[in-house]
Amino acid sequence: MEKINLEDKLKDKVQLGVLPTPLYRLVNIEKSLNYESIYIKRDDMTGLGPGGNKTRSLEYLLAEAIKENADSIIVSGPLQSNLCTLTACACNKLGLSCVLVHNGEEPERYEGNVLLNHILGVEMHFIGNVGEAERSSYVDKLYRELKERGSTPYIIKNGASTGYGAFGYINAVYEIVEQCKSNNIKIDEIFAPGGNGGVATGLIYGNAMLGFPFKINIISVEYDKKKLLNNIEKIMEEINEITNIPFNYKIEDICNIIDDYRGEGWGQNTIESEKMVFDFAKTEGIFIENIYNSKVIVGMIDMIKKKKIEGNVCYIHTGGFGSLFSQF
Ligand SMILES: Cc1ncc(COP(=O)(O)O)c(C=O)c1O
Repeated sequence: MEKINLEDKLKDKVQLGVLPTPLYRLVNIEKSLNYESIYIKRDDMTGLGPGGNKTRSLEYLLAEAIKENADSIIVSGPLQSNLCTLTACACNKLGLSCVLVHNGEEPERYEGNVLLNHILGVEMHFIGNVGEAERSSYVDKLYRELKERGSTPYIIKNGASTGYGAFGYINAVYEIVEQCKSNNIKIDEIFAPGGNGGVATGLIYGNAMLGFPFKINIISVEYDKKKLLNNIEKIMEEINEITNIPFNYKIEDICNIIDDYRGEGWGQNTIESEKMVFDFAKTEGIFIENIYNSKVIVGMIDMIKKKKIEGNVCYIHTGGFGSLFSQF
């Protein structure tokens, strides 16, 4: 297979977001830490629905779906999945039908992202408190049923943390480099959350392709370091299959994966992360949710205080605003 031109491939997407997202300094946090400079990249303001990182992934995944003539999109996740809500928004914008599969009971009162999904008017399946394997066989069954009815469905797999899904954050690195150039800003360190690892893989790959302008710090909010690394390696293989560009780096050598702030894992607050939701809103007037972003900021601030990092820092706010309304 021929090696692709990455910059051309990055343009091969549908437009869902309002990009570039804002990049500016968190002056109050800087003052409180006596540290210059701390930037925020407002990917919570990607412009689609409640905003967030998955908008970038969906630009590539739904371009694939449309190429495959899909007319309906199946996506699955927990009740408060940010991906599900953003997919519903994207489908409405693109005129695709959208089916959400939630592992969870239908709530008596819709709140947070479930309420948004209801307003968006998409089809919702609540399949009870089942595990991932059962959810995935339900999705497969739905796929076959839709096909039998003459529809052309497309499944968004692995929470959009796939090779194409990760293209969103390859593109984000190009975007940050461009913003730094045009605003005469220097950024040394980037901080972002690691869940399934799609954001992380995109950032790591984009950073490598551009000659390592940044140091990438991934705060794991879900898995231990070994498992997150494993996920990143898998997604990286998928990117390599798409691009066919030689990529001979060991992931640990080109990024810093930190699992000291995840507590008991996904959705399990730590005392510090819960407090940060309030502190950040009080200090900067910016809302963060308490699964991904609160732990990243706790980690970033702790590392700044412990002098574990140097230079200008940039925190990527990955959104998830809809879920905040169900967290307290
Ligand atoms: C708000 C938010 N931030 C970060 C992530 C983590 O992304 P990834 O699974 O690509 O690591 C997610 C994933 O759902 C998310 O919803």
